[in-house]
Parts: sequence; structure tokens; C-alpha cells
Amino acid sequence: MRPFAKLALAGVLAFGATGAHAADKLTFYCSAQEDWCQLMTKEFSAATGIKVNMTRKSSGETFAQIKAESSNPKGDVWWGGTGDPHLQAAEEGLTMAYSSSMRSELQDWALRQAASANDKTIGIYSGALGYGYNEDLLKKNGLPVPACWKDLLKPEYKGHVQMANPNSSGTAYTTLATMVQLFGEDEGFEFMKGLHKNINQYTKSGSAPIKAAAKGENTIGIVFMHDAVKQAVSGFPIKVVAPCEGTGYEIGSMSIIDGARNPESAKKFYDWALSADAQSLALQVKAYQVPSNKGSETSSAAPDLSSIKLIDYDFKKYGSSAERKRLLKKWDDEVYAQ
Ligand code: F6P
Repeated sequence: MRPFAKLALAGVLAFGATGAHAADKLTFYCSAQEDWCQLMTKEFSAATGIKVNMTRKSSGETFAQIKAESSNPKGDVWWGGTGDPHLQAAEEGLTMAYSSSMRSELQDWALRQAASANDKTIGIYSGALGYGYNEDLLKKNGLPVPACWKDLLKPEYKGHVQMANPNSSGTAYTTLATMVQLFGEDEGFEFMKGLHKNINQYTKSGSAPIKAAAKGENTIGIVFMHDAVKQAVSGFPIKVVAPCEGTGYEIGSMSIIDGARNPESAKKFYDWALSADAQSLALQVKAYQVPSNKGSETSSAAPDLSSIKLIDYDFKKYGSSAERKRLLKKWDDEVYAQ
């Protein structure tokens, strides 16, 4: 452990392993990769002695659960998942403001996310949207190599493209909001309708389409690029595409649930999760998002966001309650119902 990180962590864990009471516990809602959620659970417990009960669900699903439980909250902290539903939760009063002592170590984009929600959420990582394809399946089916979003509309890809459902998945909502911002609302929806013709399945979880492609059960998966890279570095025949028109991105976020039963445990987790050491754990499970703590370790395998044409994603607008509800309803009515 680097010395400055040791110091920071010592402060963060002032009530750490030795100070934890036997009854200290944490109900942890996790919307990042399952293996990362499990590692965070294990390492936080080991560092603090706090007993953690973790559930992994996709971003939209977790938002819906927190909302459904709001009269009797069961969760303490929500870590991971795209920022849009975290912002919506903040706006709807489902999460509480907290100003962590770790803020000085964070990237500006993580703090901007916090500022736009009056500190009711904060950025923990970022990552660009794109897609990945199974090179072997592409060749076997005699399909052209795609490079742009609009390539995915070609009739020869019918039944070969998979994405998640934007109601459950933050990845898929980011896809929808990206198309609206990249092409304008009318053309963005025309794109989603055209894409629908080629979709073989809408999955619940955002990364499922690229896991299916890795297993040879699907050809092209629309996912965050880091999720495709994970499959490629794991030895599967996956190629990663940064679409030629440009693309959207996420600020993966963390929030403390309003009315949490274990607010002190939630704050300890929050501070710990913002530390460089906790964020560096990501590499152990090949999670290649860009970490929000400036001192975290990174990997050369991770997508280089500075080389990708990113749109100026309007998090405030697309993370607002009214806009997210409106776009999801429109997608249900005009795309999914087709
Ligand atoms: O698999 C990791 C990840 O892509 C995160 O970067 C992202 O925040 C999360 O999954 C979104 O998951 P879902 O689309 O299932 O809500």
C-alpha cells in the first residue's frame, strides 16, 4: 500500500476493525459487476469488521427497489450503476446528502456529479458506451465488420444484436439517452426502432449481451466498452468498438439511502469506497472503468477515454426524474411495443 493511501485509509477507518461493534452491519445494494460487488463486500468487511449483506441488481432495478421501499427503507448504501438513476433518486428525495472527507482526492467529474445532486450522490468511476462483437461468429456468418452505430441497422445483422432493457439497465438507458443526444430526438428514436428489428433479446443486466457474445451465444453486444474489454482480456474472441459517430458515457455513482437503518456503517463504506486502495481493487476482477480517486491504480488494458469521441452527455437533464420517465415510456410505447 502506498504511504499516502495508508494515511488516508487510517483516517477513513478510524472506527475500523478494532472499533467495530459486534452488531455493526450494512445492507449494501450493488449495481456494478457481480464479482466486483462480492470483492467490495469481502474487503470492506475485512477492513472494518462490519457484517455486510449485499444484493446485486441492475441500476434501474435498484432504483425501483429503493423507491418501492422508501416508506420503510431496507438498504443502507447503493454503490455502482450508472449515474442517471442515482441522480433521479436524489431528486426524488430517496437518498441523503453526505460530504465525505475523501472528496479532495477525487476527479472533478466525480465532484460535479455530487454538486448537481446537492451531495446526495457522488461519482465513483466513468466509462464509455460502445459495443463488442464475437469475431469468430461474425466470420462464420459472413457478416461485415461494424465500426459505427448506424452499421448496426444493416439488415444482415438481424437477430445478431443484443442489448439490455433500458427500464432495468443503466447501460441500456445510457444507450437510449446517447442516441437522443447524438442524433436528436426524432432521429434517435428512428435509430432505436431500426435497431429493434435486429435485436435478438433485451436482457435485464447491461453486461449480459457481451457475456453471451463471449460464450458464442450472441454476435454483437451493446455495452460499456470496459465490459467488452473484460471479455477480450479473459481470452474470448471479442473485439471492442468505439462507434465512429461518437458516443455517450456514464459516471458510475454511489449514494446513501435516505432513512438508512445503519447510517454510520453506510458512511464508513462511502469513505472507504472513495479511497485509492478500495478503488484499485477493481483491477483484481478486471473492472476497467476509470476510477474517480486520482491515486487509484489503472491498467493499460482499460479503454482510453481521451482517445474516444465523447458527446457532452447532459447528466443533469437525462438523470432528471421527468426526462428519464418520459424517455423510458416513449421507448416502451414506440420501440418495445413494435
Ligand atoms: O458491468 C459494469 C457496468 O457496466 C458498470 O460500469 C455500470 O455502471 C453497470 O454495469 C450498469 O449495469 P446495468 O446496465 O446492469 O444497470
